[in-house]
Amino acid sequence: MKQTNSLKSLEASARDARSRAYAPYSNFQVGAALESDTGQIFTGCNVENISFGLTICAERNAVFAAIAAGVRKFRRIVVVADSKEPVTPCGACRQVLSEFADNMEIISINLQGQKYRAGLSDLLPRSKAGILDHPCST
Ligand code: THU
Repeated sequence: MKQTNSLKSLEASARDARSRAYAPYSNFQVGAALESDTGQIFTGCNVENISFGLTICAERNAVFAAIAAGVRKFRRIVVVADSKEPVTPCGACRQVLSEFADNMEIISINLQGQKYRAGLSDLLPRSKAGILDHPCST
């Protein structure tokens, strides 16, 4: 029997991760909670760098934590930030998520509790189409 977590508990995990964000340059803290297909939760926060391009978003850090733990199948990700509009993952994070999930649910929540829900394939259609599909690959 596959365990599911309540949205409330995923949100709490994302908020908790957000409290550990390292964001001294943007002052925009983000937390993410990634739920595996068996109900395990992996969290991430954004980690910035003085060389700003080295910054890693909360979502990718959650994915990398899961991969390092040997988990590669995901059901949904909850993202929490203090923004007027709930924050959806950036393009880079969408592509990284799509590496491990053809479709998964993305739930963005702001500190006021407003939610935006979408399917990953709606936010990033055709994320893998044609890539590596060249005549030399058999
Ligand atoms: N950020 C995330 O961690 N996730 C998002 O979905 C949007 C942006 C971070 C990157 C950077 O540390 C800060 O938010 C401002 O862009």
